[in-house]
Amino acid sequence: MTNVLRYGLIGAGMMGREHLRNIALVDEVEVVALADDFPESLERAAKYAPGAATHDSAEALLARDDLDAVVIATPNHTHVNVVPPAVEAGLHILCEKPLATTLDDARTLRDLGNASEKVFWVGMEYRYIPAVARLIAEVDAGTPGPLRMLSIREHRRSFLPKVRDWNRFNRNSGGTLVEKCCHHFDLMRRIVGREPVRIYASGAQDVNHLDERYHGETPDILDNAYVIVDFEGGVRAMLDLCMFAEGTADSDQISATGDTGKVECLLPGGVVRIGHREDRRVEESIALADPDAVDAGSHHGSTLEEHRHFAEAIRTGARPDVSADDGYLAVAMGLAAQQSIAEGRPVWMAELLG
Ligand SMILES: NC(=O)c1ccc[n+]([C@@H]2O[C@H](COP(=O)([O-])OP(=O)(O)OC[C@H]3O[C@@H](n4cnc5c(N)ncnc54)[C@H](O)[C@@H]3O)[C@@H](O)[C@H]2O)c1
Repeated sequence: MTNVLRYGLIGAGMMGREHLRNIALVDEVEVVALADDFPESLERAAKYAPGAATHDSAEALLARDDLDAVVIATPNHTHVNVVPPAVEAGLHILCEKPLATTLDDARTLRDLGNASEKVFWVGMEYRYIPAVARLIAEVDAGTPGPLRMLSIREHRRSFLPKVRDWNRFNRNSGGTLVEKCCHHFDLMRRIVGREPVRIYASGAQDVNHLDERYHGETPDILDNAYVIVDFEGGVRAMLDLCMFAEGTADSDQISATGDTGKVECLLPGGVVRIGHREDRRVEESIALADPDAVDAGSHHGSTLEEHRHFAEAIRTGARPDVSADDGYLAVAMGLAAQQSIAEGRPVWMAELLG
């Protein structure tokens, strides 16, 4: 009997390669098969999983009888078709974020994930960025006192080119506040520890991709937004997203403030600051991942930790850290924010969730 977990990967593009590089750093996990319908992706990925079989479709990979788990890293709008047969095949699943691009599809996958007897995990690895994990732990421990305000800022480069340019259109990605910001909304729910009630947002596509054409069509994705989220219990959170901020030093900043203090973190430097209101003291430390983990992707070393936790859940039967419900609610928050922008009004989560 071997204890090695055997994984397949469906979708061997940029994020698929990051998964392969990180899985290679996890003990007793082996990728035995890759699937992609774009030969160049398969070719580029194969070097990170030497010895793995290659398949030109998800169906061919899922027909194998030697897999324990599958990582799904195909474009957002394809998850709704790729995930169900993987659940049907009885595999543990790590599905990349966002779970889906529409509320109906996200609900379908949530229900499938919840009904599965295997681990169903949504890829929200921001939770494992060391400085973010530290901030979460401090808030959980009550360091800033009862939380009142949470601010998340991401100022970054524009979206990278993708295979067949899928991420240039809302119909494929779900829209920027779903595609990118499902991470931020997941973090808000995790840090606040309560559910969102009402969302109001302002945003637009002001700068990026306006001069690009794909089959005569101009991309329609937002590149900046402010989103305010009212949570149960009166905690308020806000997101400040700018995707034309290549010239920025601290690309991400999270700040959680309570009655007695404040915790904040800055990326990519991994700075964590804990401020005490009473004596105005500020402690500063640095939380960074192992250099090997940092090198194996573009998410501050968090993907390795995600994979360690996923494998552990498979082995122990523990609940996923990021469940199908978490994946669903992050999509719903993104859609609510986009609806708020489109309609110029606050959107109540109950309008979407019923
Ligand atoms: N967690 C994160 O921070 C993070 C970061 C980047 C991307 N992602 C997510 O990962 C997924 C993939 O994004 P990417 O950046 O790697 O895109 P990509 O375009 O680089 O790669 C997607 C790959 O999937 C393949 N593909 C498309 N449909 C397929 C199908 N039906 N069967 C098999 N292969 C198929 C494409 O040929 C391509 O090689 C998306 O859901 C994206 O949102 C997550």
